[in-house]
Amino acid sequence: MPQKVRKAVIPAAGLGTRFLPVTRAVPKPLLPVLDRPLIHYAVAEAAAAGIDQIAMVLSPGDDAIADYFRPNVRLERAFGERGDAVRLAQQKEINGLAEITVLEQTVARGLGHAVLMARDFVGDEPFAVFLPDDLIWSVTPAIAQLARISEEHGGSVVAAKRVPQEAIPNLGIIDAESVGHGVHRVRGLVEKPPLEKAPSDLAIIGRYILTPGVFDRIEYGSAGALGEIQLTDAIAAAIGVEPVHACEFEGDHIDAGTPAGMLAATIYEARRRPEFSDAVAALGLTRA
Ligand code: G1P
Repeated sequence: MPQKVRKAVIPAAGLGTRFLPVTRAVPKPLLPVLDRPLIHYAVAEAAAAGIDQIAMVLSPGDDAIADYFRPNVRLERAFGERGDAVRLAQQKEINGLAEITVLEQTVARGLGHAVLMARDFVGDEPFAVFLPDDLIWSVTPAIAQLARISEEHGGSVVAAKRVPQEAIPNLGIIDAESVGHGVHRVRGLVEKPPLEKAPSDLAIIGRYILTPGVFDRIEYGSAGALGEIQLTDAIAAAIGVEPVHACEFEGDHIDAGTPAGMLAATIYEARRRPEFSDAVAALGLTRA
């Protein structure tokens, strides 16, 4: 029987180079898409999929990212005293999304190394990874779509999407054969290939279901693209040892990790939230 996924790791210790200069002072996961920080969307997606034990891998000093999910005593007391039950419930809902564990990554050695920090937290069970820059809006949470494939086939699953040529050298690219319904059996993975070496236009998007075997593959693997310890290489090392699938998920994806991406994500989110309909109309945008 495949084990149910209960735990997630959210690596959030990057330097935020794609979003300078604001990230000199504010960690990127706290930049807002409308009224919620980026990382709220990842945690809410996990919670919607029944994953409520979450480890955040943070840079030293970035505790504010985890504090966002803890009770805010000052706000709760103020709303309680005013009898503002609606606002009080809204605050408590955020605290209740997940049980958060904070882990530190003291050196920026890559995504694989960040995930390795969560080895003890994960233990010996399959787990999810969310890259919080990647926002996905879907009917079934994207991570639940991946989890279903991992329950059916076993092994690891990466989220996947077809991307335009210019995006290929910045992403993990998948060599795979379709086995139907958006599911692909993965034959190879290559991190940030030059366009002429890319096996396809199918890219890894920041959602993963991984088996605990990935930790040894990270630990004993060598540095890859950009001289960093790449998660993609550790997953590629599992091909032939355990099943590895890619899930072309149903839903809309935006990489909000750049100013232009965050602008697109903000407009997308505003168009689907009724309370922003006047602002959307005033900007000449149409509702989603
Ligand atoms: C990471 C992964 C890459 C993946 C991308 C998706 O890259 O290494 O395989 O395609 O996330 O967002 P990064 O954005 O950290 O450079």
